[in-house]
Amino acid sequence: YVTKMRRYLQMAALNNIMGSVFGIRLDGEGEGRQVREMVEEGFELLGAFNWVNHLPWLRPLDPLRGYARCARLVPRVRTVVQRIINQHRQSPVPRDTTHSDFLDVLLSLQGHHNLHDDDIIAVLWEMIFRGTDTVALVTQWTMVELVLNEEMQGRAQVELEAVVGRDTSVRDEDISRLPFMQAVVKESLRMHLPGPLLSWARLCTVDVDIAGGMHVPARTKDMVNMWYITHDPQIWESPHEFRPERFIEQKVDVRGNDLRLAPFGAGHRVCPGKALGLTTIHLWLAKLVHHYKWIPSPQHPVDLTEVLKLSSQMATPLTGIPTTINNY
Ligand code: HEM
Repeated sequence: YVTKMRRYLQMAALNNIMGSVFGIRLDGEGEGRQVREMVEEGFELLGAFNWVNHLPWLRPLDPLRGYARCARLVPRVRTVVQRIINQHRQSPVPRDTTHSDFLDVLLSLQGHHNLHDDDIIAVLWEMIFRGTDTVALVTQWTMVELVLNEEMQGRAQVELEAVVGRDTSVRDEDISRLPFMQAVVKESLRMHLPGPLLSWARLCTVDVDIAGGMHVPARTKDMVNMWYITHDPQIWESPHEFRPERFIEQKVDVRGNDLRLAPFGAGHRVCPGKALGLTTIHLWLAKLVHHYKWIPSPQHPVDLTEVLKLSSQMATPLTGIPTTINNY
């Protein structure tokens, strides 16, 4: 039974974020299917290299049809999300119940803050775009390393068996008691950062002097090369080797408090989905290796080549073979 992981993980990630944001599932017809199509179109547009952006005089001709497709997508998104907003308004869920989704929370704030429906649409859509690919990618890259490192996969399984046992399923509250799994995820984030340059370029608004004697004049556009930092041999011993133990030996907080490894950025614009993203990734990985031993497919050898689209993707998606363990 051969599993091409990317498609499954992307669908699972999209379904997961849709549940958190709108309280809907994608497998159904109607709204779910429409949202899925629009998200796929959006990813395709954002991930494609549109060289016309660099030749502004060609824009009116729009040879790659990128601008025309965006212009069609935006009103579709607005209409569908507005309909979901209206449905939520008709049957509001109290904020403190466990059934409320992110949209319920934003609607409950509308009376107290100057929050328009267009703002809500923009915030929710950004969460969907930022929170889908990243989670699927980190899970896939971590599985790659575990498929290639049988011994580490075994260690993760031994830890799960000791902490969770054989006969129960992993739950989010178990994650804090899985230090080796946490170290595996940190090492995977270090080696395979979803956003090697963290974010879009930033504009420096004032003159700044930074450590090392560098002067950055106002109006400079800059990007953070986090990939370089996480592969710098002066910071990380043998940076190209997958060694989760380094995070058992030293404590590193990846949530923006340690600039040696800040895959979620840091400061004011740090990723607001970092806790949700990390919890989901740990839970999925734990579930995948708790129930199955994963081995590489002889027909589709693991290929570590990366390709930078919206995030850093695998050029050839992982194909793994799950074999049952623990009598599941
Ligand atoms: C492993 C998973 C994830 C990674 C590695 C990641 C990484 C990042 C990074 C690097 C940024 C840019 C930070 C900066 O500009 O300095 C960012 C921004 C953002 N992320 Fe995430 N993210 C992840 C998951 C998520 C999830 C699950 C959500 C939604 C629930 C989310 C929502 C956002 C949003 C809305 C922003 C924009 C924040 C702003 O512009 O102020 N992310 N993320």
